[in-house]
Amino acid sequence: MSENIAMVNAAETRADEQVNARVRCILCGATPKRAELTFRCADCGELLEIFYPAWDDEARRPAATALKPLWRERKTSSCAQDQSGVWRFRELLPLTGADVVTLGEGNTPLYELPGCARSAGMERLQAKHQGMNPTGSFKDTGMTVALSAARRENYHWVACASTGNTSASMAAYAARAGMRSLVLIPDGYIAWGKLAQSLDYGALTCQLRTDFDGCLRVLSQLVTRYPVYLLNSLNPYRIEGQKTAAIELLEQLDWRVPDHVIVPGGNLGNSSALGKGFLELRELGLIGKLPRLSIVQAEGANALVRTLRETGGRQLVPVQAETMATAIRIGNPASWRKAVRILEATGGACEEVSEAEIAMAKAEIGADGVGCEPASAVTLAGLKKLVRSGFVQRSDSVVLVLTGHVLKDPEYTLKFHRGDLLAEAGDAGALEPHRRAPVILDADPDAVLRLLEQAATS
Ligand SMILES: Cc1ncc(COP(=O)(O)O)c(C=O)c1O
Ligand SMILES: [Zn+2]
Repeated sequence: MSENIAMVNAAETRADEQVNARVRCILCGATPKRAELTFRCADCGELLEIFYPAWDDEARRPAATALKPLWRERKTSSCAQDQSGVWRFRELLPLTGADVVTLGEGNTPLYELPGCARSAGMERLQAKHQGMNPTGSFKDTGMTVALSAARRENYHWVACASTGNTSASMAAYAARAGMRSLVLIPDGYIAWGKLAQSLDYGALTCQLRTDFDGCLRVLSQLVTRYPVYLLNSLNPYRIEGQKTAAIELLEQLDWRVPDHVIVPGGNLGNSSALGKGFLELRELGLIGKLPRLSIVQAEGANALVRTLRETGGRQLVPVQAETMATAIRIGNPASWRKAVRILEATGGACEEVSEAEIAMAKAEIGADGVGCEPASAVTLAGLKKLVRSGFVQRSDSVVLVLTGHVLKDPEYTLKFHRGDLLAEAGDAGALEPHRRAPVILDADPDAVLRLLEQAATS
């Protein structure tokens, strides 16, 4: 560890638990001393956000010129917090020190997607793959911070409602911390990979006869009746962790701000988090402008699209969500107001895409050797629409945020390649060239050779 890092780390340990972060209601501006158990404002019921009062004081604000080299230098340190792609940026986080529970999250790759770029009509396209986190989704970057906050408050139990990835992540981090975890998932609508993870990590897993929104309603009541710490993205500590993906992305781009960042929208925590990250980087002078942050939803789970279209973003229009991209099968997104503000602040767009468009985009991301789960593929499908509408120009720099790993939902992928997904949909024919179903042959080299020669000429 270099002297520079050692000095900073020692000073931090001394300063640990000094209150440098507060919560504030995003609507009425109330700043309670402590967040309610439901993480909603006691006065108006809206969500809370974390803010850093010291940043208003020039002398106490983190210095942009010092942060960039410090963060870079930490990459070579052997300290666990320095090796985490979240805690490496802890000057912008609400806690550090002994309570931190880390699995070495973050540090996710930024990939070129040449095939997808061609298909979208772009000169170049990049993807930040948050599915390359320890439990295979972006949730880990928020979970490490929120779970650490639960530990600091001496909770024994943590809980979440989930479409699968939050529960997998929470269960892993709780297990690492020696805490118990309770998972509420909608019966029948979560991908097997995710359910398997939460069982393996030891969560008490309940499949409720309802959808995600119903699970969240039950949990919001439960936390007022039993000491469980709520780890959904209404928890502002989750948002703080997830915002570090924006910082890491900018660092990977040598602080050159892309024209567009495109992210899937479900409960709308992640888009809010990334937007908060970009806004704070600009506030602290680490970047001079913002990327346009656009949000893409599945047509069958398009509450934000309808909220903007029908009320100009003033009133949530909930929907009965239906999509095979189960991670974003959410009709009543908790963070809709935060997301609307981010769209306004960055000048981003909000798009919706069909099931066939999602399936095609997912296959194309796979064909670039990257792969992702269905919910992540909405980003590429949405980009194609944004290029067609002229919102994105061919020469613009664009980063897609891929949120989940391809192995999360193998059933979807197999059905797609076997031709069983969307079989009855009218536009299924367009998907045909993207299908690569497994071929069953006799154990005969001649048969394999014939197939190989056929494939080589097709
Ligand atoms: C893979 C994946 N992508 C996107 C989302 C949507 O994120 P958010 O709910 O923060 O909008 C989720 C949420 O569960 C997810 O698991
Ligand atoms: Zn309020």
